[in-house]
Amino acid sequence: MESNQEKSQPATAIVIMAAGKGTRLKSKRPKVLHEIGGKPLLQHVIAAASKVVAPHDVVVVIGHQADLVRAAVEQTGVRFVEQTEQRGTGHAIQCAAESIAGYENFVVLSGDAPLVQPATIEALLKFHLEQRAAMTLVSADLPDPMNYGRVIRKSAASVEVEAIIEQKCLEPDQLALREINMGMYAFKTAPLLAHLGQLKTENPHGEYYLTDMARLLQTAGERVVAFKSDDFEQLLGVNTIAELAALDASLRGQTARRLMDSGVTIFKPETCVIDTDVEVAADTVIEPFVQLLGQTRIGAEARIRSYTVIENCTLGDNVLVRQSCVLSDSTVGNGASIGPFAHLRPGSEIGESAHVGNFVETKKARLGKGAKASHLTYLGDADVGEGTNIGAGTITCNYDGVNKHQTHIGKNAFVGSDSTLVAPVTVGDGAYIGAGSCITKDVPADALAVGRGRQVIKENWAAERRARRETGNVHS
Ligand code: UD1
Ligand code: CA
Repeated sequence: MESNQEKSQPATAIVIMAAGKGTRLKSKRPKVLHEIGGKPLLQHVIAAASKVVAPHDVVVVIGHQADLVRAAVEQTGVRFVEQTEQRGTGHAIQCAAESIAGYENFVVLSGDAPLVQPATIEALLKFHLEQRAAMTLVSADLPDPMNYGRVIRKSAASVEVEAIIEQKCLEPDQLALREINMGMYAFKTAPLLAHLGQLKTENPHGEYYLTDMARLLQTAGERVVAFKSDDFEQLLGVNTIAELAALDASLRGQTARRLMDSGVTIFKPETCVIDTDVEVAADTVIEPFVQLLGQTRIGAEARIRSYTVIENCTLGDNVLVRQSCVLSDSTVGNGASIGPFAHLRPGSEIGESAHVGNFVETKKARLGKGAKASHLTYLGDADVGEGTNIGAGTITCNYDGVNKHQTHIGKNAFVGSDSTLVAPVTVGDGAYIGAGSCITKDVPADALAVGRGRQVIKENWAAERRARRETGNVHS
């Protein structure tokens, strides 16, 4: 990404306030790490900010469970400052003062308002610069303004703002005001820093309110303006689990629409759980009640049948995943079919046109092109060559109670039903294993291995037993 300094605009930083506890969530986890669309709230905000400025120009204020929050988003390359005691939004910016001092302007976002779009941040900045304002706040007319700070304009028609008044500080005649402060701002750094130390804590929470900067700057003769948004839903924050669920639904709705717009068919999209980063190619069909999670990629003309959960997997074109499968951290080649009721555990690589059937479990298992394990099988720490058929009920015994061992099965081999392969063991290309075998020694290519008790025939045994019962000589 182009860095700030290379742009013609004056240098801009983005501060994301994420130090609060989120008391109303009643959760042990810090609020900004609660997830929507499969990613922490804060990660959504960082992603939007990083599309407007370089990650290095994004400063995240952390405090409550700072280590946990830092670890969760560190890989984004943003900078962090710590607010060890959370003494309000104004105090959060005081903690970031040193980090932003070198920038001409900075934007403030909340780590708990995850739907904010890069275009909105850019529009705010543009407005702020055009207005030559010291402070620009984003406002909106809300149907229910309860609990938000209200915007007091200098006059109804004026772009200029006199003050922001928090809910608990409203005079009775201000209660009807519907224009609220969305908690997103742009500041010119110099005047903000010049007056930031004047914030007081004489308010019902005993906190330093960033919102008080509006009156402070305005009184000092600086220009404070409001940038009204008509898309307040994009700017809503999360304060309760119910609000979290609502934003999650809204974001997943957007993801489903993005996929449908690119040619994916999703039946009853409202029943599907699709994470934000999932990619699906055109002409693939997703049936109701499917979950596609994490970094999942699915090719074209595939079909994912109901009740399947796929997490961090890459599936090729024309793949069929039947009902009720669980696929995690695995890959599936073009034209392969999986399920129903199959379980691909991490590290499974299912080759082109291979088949993994019902009640088959794989883990760190590689199946070559056209290989088949159609029924009731466990393949762990195994590789299976192309064209090989694994009979029903085959088990790779990969674990000796202490260590895991590998099973290698060559190409075009045939493993008879109900075989157990005790690893480490190798079965050569084209070899046959008789049904019901317990294989503990390597099988050479093209050989037949049978490892089971010989069948015994006792002629007429059953008829004689029946006869004994009829004459009363048998009790059972
Ligand atoms: C704030 C605004 C309010 C606005 C609303 C919009 C203030 C005083 N009020 O209220 O006018 O209508 O947002 O949603 O700013 N945070 C810190 N450190 C702190 C306190 C908070 O980093 O010491 C962070 C929180 O983690 C959160 C953000 O700042 O991400 C906003 O704080 P929050 O307590 O949710 O403010 P609101 O009460 O919603
Ligand atoms: Ca809030």
